[in-house]
Amino acid sequence: MATWDLSKTKHHVLICNGSSCNYAGAEELTQAIREEISERGLDQHIHTTRTRCNGRCQDKCVAIVYPKGDWYKDLSPEDSRKLIDSLIYENDLTGKISHTAGKDGFIREPGVVQGVLKEKEKDQKVSKKL
Ligand code: FES
Repeated sequence: MATWDLSKTKHHVLICNGSSCNYAGAEELTQAIREEISERGLDQHIHTTRTRCNGRCQDKCVAIVYPKGDWYKDLSPEDSRKLIDSLIYENDLTGKISHTAGKDGFIREPGVVQGVLKEKEKDQKVSKKL
Protein backbone atom coordinates (compact mmCIF):
# COMPACT_ATOMS: atom_id res chain seq x y z
CA MET A 1 0.00 0.00 0.00
CA ALA A 2 1.31 3.42 -0.89
CA THR A 3 0.30 7.03 -0.56
CA TRP A 4 2.39 9.09 -2.93
CA ASP A 5 3.01 12.82 -2.70
CA LEU A 6 1.76 14.01 -6.09
CA SER A 7 2.71 17.66 -5.66
CA LYS A 8 5.46 17.40 -8.33
CA THR A 9 3.50 15.14 -10.69
CA LYS A 10 3.10 16.68 -14.14
CA HIS A 11 1.80 13.67 -16.05
CA HIS A 12 -0.43 10.82 -14.98
CA VAL A 13 -0.24 7.77 -17.25
CA LEU A 14 -3.15 5.37 -16.93
CA ILE A 15 -2.08 2.02 -18.37
CA CYS A 16 -4.90 -0.30 -19.25
CA ASN A 17 -4.51 -3.73 -17.68
CA GLY A 18 -7.93 -4.98 -18.69
CA SER A 19 -8.17 -8.47 -20.15
CA SER A 20 -7.88 -7.52 -23.86
CA CYS A 21 -4.87 -5.29 -23.24
CA ASN A 22 -3.30 -7.87 -20.91
CA TYR A 23 -3.68 -10.49 -23.60
CA ALA A 24 -1.84 -8.14 -25.99
CA GLY A 25 1.07 -7.52 -23.59
CA ALA A 26 -0.08 -4.84 -21.12
CA GLU A 27 1.99 -6.33 -18.29
CA GLU A 28 5.20 -6.00 -20.32
CA LEU A 29 4.15 -2.53 -21.46
CA THR A 30 3.49 -1.45 -17.87
CA GLN A 31 6.90 -2.70 -16.74
CA ALA A 32 8.65 -1.07 -19.71
CA ILE A 33 7.00 2.34 -19.12
CA ARG A 34 7.81 2.21 -15.41
CA GLU A 35 11.43 1.22 -16.10
CA GLU A 36 11.79 4.05 -18.61
CA ILE A 37 10.49 6.55 -16.04
CA SER A 38 12.75 5.19 -13.31
CA GLU A 39 15.88 5.04 -15.46
CA ARG A 40 15.43 8.72 -16.34
CA GLY A 41 14.80 9.73 -12.73
CA LEU A 42 11.31 10.96 -13.56
CA ASP A 43 9.32 9.20 -10.84
CA GLN A 44 8.49 12.53 -9.18
CA HIS A 45 7.08 13.94 -12.40
CA ILE A 46 5.36 11.01 -14.10
CA HIS A 47 2.94 8.90 -12.10
CA THR A 48 1.52 5.66 -13.49
CA THR A 49 -1.58 3.71 -12.59
CA ARG A 50 -2.79 0.35 -13.83
CA THR A 51 -6.45 0.36 -14.70
CA ARG A 52 -9.12 -2.13 -15.65
CA CYS A 53 -10.67 -1.98 -19.13
CA ASN A 54 -11.03 1.55 -20.51
CA GLY A 55 -13.60 0.59 -23.10
CA ARG A 56 -11.37 0.83 -26.17
CA CYS A 57 -10.27 -2.81 -26.46
CA GLN A 58 -9.93 -2.55 -30.25
CA ASP A 59 -7.01 -0.17 -29.62
CA LYS A 60 -5.08 -2.52 -27.32
CA CYS A 61 -2.70 -1.84 -25.62
CA VAL A 62 -4.22 1.39 -24.41
CA ALA A 63 -2.78 4.13 -22.22
CA ILE A 64 -4.20 7.54 -21.34
CA VAL A 65 -2.23 10.59 -20.26
CA TYR A 66 -3.60 13.40 -18.12
CA PRO A 67 -3.77 16.35 -17.95
CA LYS A 68 -2.80 16.27 -21.65
CA GLY A 69 -5.90 14.22 -22.39
CA ASP A 70 -4.42 11.97 -25.07
CA TRP A 71 -5.44 8.36 -25.54
CA TYR A 72 -2.76 6.06 -26.98
CA LYS A 73 -3.33 2.90 -28.98
CA ASP A 74 -1.42 -0.12 -30.24
CA LEU A 75 1.28 0.36 -27.63
CA SER A 76 4.01 -2.20 -27.10
CA PRO A 77 7.00 -2.18 -24.73
CA GLU A 78 9.15 -0.85 -27.59
CA ASP A 79 7.07 2.35 -27.58
CA SER A 80 7.91 3.22 -23.97
CA ARG A 81 10.90 5.43 -24.71
CA LYS A 82 9.02 7.43 -27.34
CA LEU A 83 5.97 7.71 -25.10
CA ILE A 84 8.04 9.22 -22.29
CA ASP A 85 9.89 11.41 -24.81
CA SER A 86 6.54 12.73 -26.03
CA LEU A 87 5.64 13.80 -22.49
CA ILE A 88 8.99 15.44 -21.77
CA TYR A 89 9.40 17.21 -25.09
CA GLU A 90 5.67 17.80 -25.63
CA ASN A 91 5.63 16.25 -29.08
CA ASP A 92 3.29 13.69 -30.53
CA LEU A 93 3.89 9.98 -30.65
CA THR A 94 3.16 9.62 -34.34
CA GLY A 95 0.58 7.00 -35.20
CA LYS A 96 -0.07 6.01 -31.60
CA ILE A 97 -2.63 8.58 -30.53
CA SER A 98 -6.24 7.49 -30.93
CA HIS A 99 -8.04 10.43 -29.33
CA THR A 100 -7.16 13.90 -28.08
CA ALA A 101 -9.15 15.97 -25.65
CA GLY A 102 -11.25 18.64 -27.29
CA LYS A 103 -13.59 21.30 -25.99
CA ASP A 104 -16.71 19.23 -26.71
CA GLY A 105 -15.30 15.73 -26.29
CA PHE A 106 -12.46 13.54 -27.44
CA ILE A 107 -11.42 13.93 -31.07
CA ARG A 108 -10.78 10.62 -32.83
CA GLU A 109 -7.77 10.42 -35.14
CA PRO A 110 -8.39 9.39 -38.77
CA GLY A 111 -8.44 5.63 -39.25
CA VAL A 112 -9.27 4.86 -35.63
CA VAL A 113 -12.36 2.69 -35.15
CA GLN A 114 -15.26 4.83 -33.94
CA GLY A 115 -16.81 2.23 -31.67
CA VAL A 116 -20.38 1.96 -30.46
CA LEU A 117 -22.19 5.11 -29.41
CA LYS A 118 -23.29 4.73 -25.82
CA GLU A 119 -26.80 5.89 -26.64
CA LYS A 120 -27.03 3.19 -29.30
CA GLU A 121 -25.87 0.47 -26.88
CA LYS A 122 -28.44 1.65 -24.36
CA ASP A 123 -31.18 1.52 -27.02
CA GLN A 124 -30.14 -2.04 -27.92
CA LYS A 125 -30.31 -3.14 -24.27
CA VAL A 126 -33.76 -1.62 -23.90
CA SER A 127 -35.01 -3.25 -27.09
CA LYS A 128 -33.74 -6.66 -25.92
CA LYS A 129 -35.83 -6.35 -22.77
CA LEU A 130 -38.98 -5.61 -24.77
S1 FES B 1 -8.90 -4.08 -21.95
FE1 FES B 1 -7.84 -2.24 -22.40
S2 FES B 1 -9.37 -1.02 -23.33
FE2 FES B 1 -10.41 -2.84 -22.84
